[in-house]
Amino acid sequence: MKELTFSIVKPDAVAAGNTGNILQMILDAGLKIKAMKMIHMTKKQAEGFYAVHKERPFFGELVEFMTSGPCVVSVLEGDDAIRQYRDLMGPTNSSEAPKGTIRGEYGTDIQNNACHGSDGPDTAKTEVAYFFNRLEMVG
Ligand code: PPS
Repeated sequence: MKELTFSIVKPDAVAAGNTGNILQMILDAGLKIKAMKMIHMTKKQAEGFYAVHKERPFFGELVEFMTSGPCVVSVLEGDDAIRQYRDLMGPTNSSEAPKGTIRGEYGTDIQNNACHGSDGPDTAKTEVAYFFNRLEMVG
């Protein structure tokens, strides 16, 4: 079943020069890029995006990290894209991520974990709409 998911190449990975390698891993996995842009999130944008985590103790650090430099946001399409991309990313904590996953190759820890991917269909819809409008999507 064709599905859309939302992806972020996070500031740690962009700053380390790993954007190209990560996008290549996404393409090699058979996912299509339907929209993409580089942005530097404002505090307000990051707080809104991660609002679901606002009561968690790491919220302030997470927002600070996500606004620390540019990131690359994109919309990916593929069969079972949400699950496929989460498998490709590996577990949230990079230190537990196997080699061959994005976080296993390019992440450092639970915060500096190179990438974000939607965790379900409702989240994917909300997250895509948070950063992209219809005119920015191809096809
Ligand atoms: S998940 O994938 O939603 O189950 O992961 P979760 O553990 O709930 O974490 C959600 C996001 O918060 C980030 N995170 C942290 N940032 C800073 N410090 C600490 N301790 C920390 N723990 C979790 C984590 O990288 C997740 O970011 P996203 O962008 O959702 O992957």
